[in-house]
Amino acid sequence: MSKTKKKNFLYIDLSKPMTYGDQFKLMFIIMFISCFLFTLVYLFTLVGGRSKADTPSSAEVSHTEMSSAVSHDEGQPSAVVSEVSTANETDKGFFDDIETLYLEHDEVYKGDLILVNKNYKCPSDGENAVSLMELKSGSYVVTDYSVSLNKDIVNYLNRMLDDFEERYGENDVMVACGYRSYANQEEIFNNEVEDVGVEEAEKWVARPGYSEHQTGLVIDFTLNNDVEQGSIKYDGTGIYEWINTNSYKYGFILRYLLGKEEITGYSHEPWHFRYVGLPAAVYITKNEITLEEYIDIVRTHDINDPLLIDGGGENKWYVYYVPANEDSETEVTVPKNVNYRISGDNVKGFIITADVDIKG
Ligand code: DAL
Ligand code: ZN
Repeated sequence: MSKTKKKNFLYIDLSKPMTYGDQFKLMFIIMFISCFLFTLVYLFTLVGGRSKADTPSSAEVSHTEMSSAVSHDEGQPSAVVSEVSTANETDKGFFDDIETLYLEHDEVYKGDLILVNKNYKCPSDGENAVSLMELKSGSYVVTDYSVSLNKDIVNYLNRMLDDFEERYGENDVMVACGYRSYANQEEIFNNEVEDVGVEEAEKWVARPGYSEHQTGLVIDFTLNNDVEQGSIKYDGTGIYEWINTNSYKYGFILRYLLGKEEITGYSHEPWHFRYVGLPAAVYITKNEITLEEYIDIVRTHDINDPLLIDGGGENKWYVYYVPANEDSETEVTVPKNVNYRISGDNVKGFIITADVDIKG
């Protein structure tokens, strides 16, 4: 008995002229494939667009960073992935067009990435500090007119706390301390030693001359409703956790991390924020490292093998290091026609940070 094979619904015999039924089937197949492809493209677009959803409300923070060489505008990173990489195919031409700068040795001690800790003393004392009361936005408070900060970072602080207030409707964050003079630090250190002894005091308070508060790039937060003379009540929990996890987007890092005491020399301080700018804040925060470790990593990269920091979206930067000459000017090669910034490390060289995607 011969069996007739049952034909598939979509079977079309191409050896014969097409019937109306065949034409209908063909149209159905084409439409099905089109819908499938359209859905695929749509899904890819959705996944790609998600990286932009993480931006805070005033997303276009313009960073005109302090630097010894060039100031520039840069956008705020959205979702962030930090990675170490050498130049890829697309970016190969980035360093084709270069020029040489000649930097004085003194420049090593200037810039937003200077390292101040128990080994490296603060090279400045309030040169750019301004009273915060005059310049602050309405989204936070300061203890009094004496609280001051480097004028170039007030904008970033304002935007961070404006965004915080917009989210949570609270304006009780208080800046308890910004810039501290040598004399002020001396008084705080001596008082602490009197209270708890020198060994304990050194875990929390820097010796005069060695506090990064003296740079004017540091903020200690407290809470307005909790203020007690001489005490810090801000611990970065509850709604304030948003500040501690998002501060990097505005260029601020938590400087004294839990578990990093051996490296920083100090106990965990969830209220102490240091401005380092972008992309250092991005890299440091996403990799849960300290400023000390960031500088160590950057020192292993020169212009021929720059560190690529990918901030997601349009934000990418190349970062590399040039050791300073002790007795003469240092030749520093920089890319031409792109925005870049140079900061000293306060130790022995220069950190160059160039915007990859914003070629002018
Ligand atoms: N609390 C930090 C370590 C300082 O005194 O600068
Ligand atoms: Zn502090």
